[in-house]
Amino acid sequence: MDHANDLEAYWMPFTAQRQFKATPRLFASADGMYLRTTDGRAVMDGVSSMWCCNAGHNRPRIVEAIRAQAGELDYAPGYQFGHPKAFELANRLVALMPGTLKHVFFTNSGSESVETALKMAIAYHRVRGEGSRVRLIGREKGYHGVNFGGMSVGGMPANRKMFGTLVAGVDHLRHTHGDPRNLFARGEPEHGAELADDLERLVQLHDASTIAAVIVEPVQGSAGVIVPPKGYLQRLRAICDRHGILLIFDEVITGFGRLGTPFAAQYFGVEPDLVATAKGLTNGVIPMGAVFAQSKIYQAFLQGPPNTIDFFHGYTYSGNPMACAAALGTLDTYDEDGLLTRAAMLAPYWEQALHALRGERNVIDIRNLGFMGAVELAPGAAGPGARGFAALLRLYEAGLLCRTTGDTIAFAPPLIAEHKHIDVLVETLGKVLKSID
Ligand SMILES: Cc1ncc(COP(=O)(O)O)c(C=O)c1O
Repeated sequence: MDHANDLEAYWMPFTAQRQFKATPRLFASADGMYLRTTDGRAVMDGVSSMWCCNAGHNRPRIVEAIRAQAGELDYAPGYQFGHPKAFELANRLVALMPGTLKHVFFTNSGSESVETALKMAIAYHRVRGEGSRVRLIGREKGYHGVNFGGMSVGGMPANRKMFGTLVAGVDHLRHTHGDPRNLFARGEPEHGAELADDLERLVQLHDASTIAAVIVEPVQGSAGVIVPPKGYLQRLRAICDRHGILLIFDEVITGFGRLGTPFAAQYFGVEPDLVATAKGLTNGVIPMGAVFAQSKIYQAFLQGPPNTIDFFHGYTYSGNPMACAAALGTLDTYDEDGLLTRAAMLAPYWEQALHALRGERNVIDIRNLGFMGAVELAPGAAGPGARGFAALLRLYEAGLLCRTTGDTIAFAPPLIAEHKHIDVLVETLGKVLKSID
């Protein structure tokens, strides 16, 4: 086909349009651990495509659930009406959650889940008479999607700088990356729990009475798998409690088994007040997100006459029947294959294999937790990001899909992976690293 003409109309997300359209990378099909390109090459999925296909591709229960749902109830209104599968899904999901995170609100993406959680936090304080708590605290290097709230609490400069002054009243904790003592740490790094105390600095500056919530990814994914120092999240929770600040975990990546527990909340033994999720909820197959709220938050909204709307928020596709069917099929698949805990079994082998790349050309750090990990390269002569992008292209040519941020190459393979897939991943990566200047 004439790529120059045929590829022009589509303005692709987060893509180098000109480079892509000159040398397109198109997938035609996918099954299990592999995607297949339009020219028939198999590419191993090293990152669950976009951290979302946790059960691998083309899973029969999900395919069948969607097929059946389309012929039964394709859509149903979600405001003031409902359908049984949304309630069934909500019950199945809250059963996976710790503590009192027993209510769930449906969205269509991670970005929408974040916006929803931020709005819940501010409104929660207001309905209980603390309307001065309006500030939101994010963290440097955080990624919380691309909508205005998420972008504002996010901390990746390239995602923010083009878009004006963003949401007012937002501040950021310092990130936890870069302590030289933590280089090549296996799992949670030893040093830096005290960085959580940065929240005390912001409390001093703004006063706790103005702060609604803190949002963090338990493990920062998009910034290149930045694992929290031991004790950091527990300390953040304690500081939030001391000051009446809600803690929001953005588990869009860490949710649904990535760390070997259903959610990172269980892995770290920290119960947040709100949890934003998406991606693995439907195995990436149909767009869907979900926000989990502690009972105290849900209950606080149930005031006033019973026939008034309690939370003025929602999406046309909240709890969409097709998405609910896909999510139920996904949960069945996770259950049958034991995928929500499988990462715990894979993690030691994964850690060992990935860290074997220490000493390879240009490698300046390797990080891992659960079944996610990253290899960071030194920036090359062509400037930051060029070497990372070269790695993305060469890995793709060599039959391995990854994600890159700057010069960091990230992996989070489907949770169905076996040791042999890890071996192929590391071997391919090792070869490619040798080939990059
Ligand atoms: C932690 C986190 N939050 C939010 C998002 C945004 O999700 P979406 O792209 O579905 O809007 C992502 C996407 O990668 C993410 O990793």
